[in-house]
Amino acid sequence: MRMFSKIVLVTLISAAAARAEVDAKTARTWKAKCAACHGADGKGETDMGKTAKLADLASADWQKSKTDAQIKSVIESGATKNGVEMESYKDTLDAAQIAAVVQYIRTLK
Ligand code: HEC
Repeated sequence: MRMFSKIVLVTLISAAAARAEVDAKTARTWKAKCAACHGADGKGETDMGKTAKLADLASADWQKSKTDAQIKSVIESGATKNGVEMESYKDTLDAAQIAAVVQYIRTLK
């Protein structure tokens, strides 16, 4: 293999590894901070999710109905439904983490 191709290959592999690392962190964030209500799979089939009657974030309809900007805005502002309160994550997650969580939600469908 020529030197140039080796460099390209190594660069691609490290980029993929870095992305996998970010995704694993975001998956942990989702499990730790969001899954108690929305469920690990986003379907909202938890006690709190059922009380609030949360939407199924994994459904094609929900995914289509929301823009990334709308999802980001809810995470930043928080929300309340049927007495269940989602806190604002503006101070607990930084902008990059919120953007990563938005992308993570897109993978739930
Ligand atoms: C204590 C329960 C709870 C936790 C924890 C929680 N949420 Fe929520 N979430 C809610 C409630 C309640 C709503 C409002 C639902 C509505 O208005 O239909 C909501 C709404 C949302 C929505 C918009 C859903 C819609 O149908 O418009 C998104 C996206 C969302 N949450 C993402 C997250 C993310 C990401 C986290 C973690 C960082 C999180 N939530 C943590 C309860 C929770």
